[in-house]
Amino acid sequence: MSIRKAVKDRPAYNFEPKPYTIKLDQNESPYDLSAELKEKVFDKLRDTAFNRYPDIHADGLRAAIADYCDWPELGIAVGSGSNTLIRRMIEISGLGQTVLCLKPTFAVYELDANLLEPDALIELDLNADFSLPVEKLKEVLASKTGVFFLANPAAPTGNIHPQTEVLELLKVAQQNDWTVIIDEAYHQFSDTDYSKLIKDFPNMICLRTLSKAFGLAGVRLGYALGNPDYIKHVQKAIPPFSVSVVQLAIAEVVLGDGRQVVEDYIQEVRSERERIFAALDAANIAYHPSATNFFLLPCKDPEKLYNAVLADGLLIRRQDHLVESCLRISIGKPEENTEMLKIILKHY
Ligand SMILES: Cc1ncc(COP(=O)(O)O)c(C=O)c1O
Repeated sequence: MSIRKAVKDRPAYNFEPKPYTIKLDQNESPYDLSAELKEKVFDKLRDTAFNRYPDIHADGLRAAIADYCDWPELGIAVGSGSNTLIRRMIEISGLGQTVLCLKPTFAVYELDANLLEPDALIELDLNADFSLPVEKLKEVLASKTGVFFLANPAAPTGNIHPQTEVLELLKVAQQNDWTVIIDEAYHQFSDTDYSKLIKDFPNMICLRTLSKAFGLAGVRLGYALGNPDYIKHVQKAIPPFSVSVVQLAIAEVVLGDGRQVVEDYIQEVRSERERIFAALDAANIAYHPSATNFFLLPCKDPEKLYNAVLADGLLIRRQDHLVESCLRISIGKPEENTEMLKIILKHY
């Protein structure tokens, strides 16, 4: 059996399910698609031939995204989860060159780079206040080339990087032919949109997901917005027919008749976030402010607090291996957030 050393050395991406009453551990939407919208999906599927291959490059969905984002269809690539597109971008722009990212950040950049070509990976530590190490990043961007992943809003820290700093980095990256991936998985919750800058920085890609604000984590869909000249290469790296007719039908309904539901959920996250932060302020509990649908809660003993709240049915996520002493809590339905606050205050 021949297995590359990089693959043998890579730890498995583990996710251990735990029993819960309230699930606030994976930054998902707490709302399933309504029965009415599901009926529309079923109607679509009734007329769909399951024996035929789907569109080769998910053309119907790319058209729906083009309409939703006001973006040319040829500048859109779709994959089964935005995490599958991350690997494609490393294959296209990182191998034999550099994969640059921050630490901590979304784990898949590092995991995929380590699987494909560990020597290509450069990780730079965020500053203690979660801001970007701008000068150090500029040094790498000026001396090498490859692909640079920047989650904005950031994960797992939840902050937004100031646009002035990102622009400084984009300029140096452009001079040295980098591909810059701005991962906007959470952008609807912060009302930021870097796609507007792609006309000035054609080397930039906005990576998006349907797993968060669109509430389709179980459906596995993500997309990239970019310059058609780059996207045509991304299409070559995506396995043909990789988005199924079932995924296509669901996403087309959500991006069509489901738009208002998505908008309402985004507004609810923003107001619940404020309510949660006000309650923590009132209880004198410090937290890291966030522009996303989750936030980091520092505490004295993360393992103890995690286990205590889990015993009361509240499932959150340990992040103390990434950010000192922190647990991560997703924003749920209003009644779940009220219960979450009660349980946290009881054990904190
Ligand atoms: C920053 C960031 N990017 C991408 C993803 C992956 O999204 P998807 O479900 O589309 O693979 C996540 C998921 O948590 C994320 O936090």
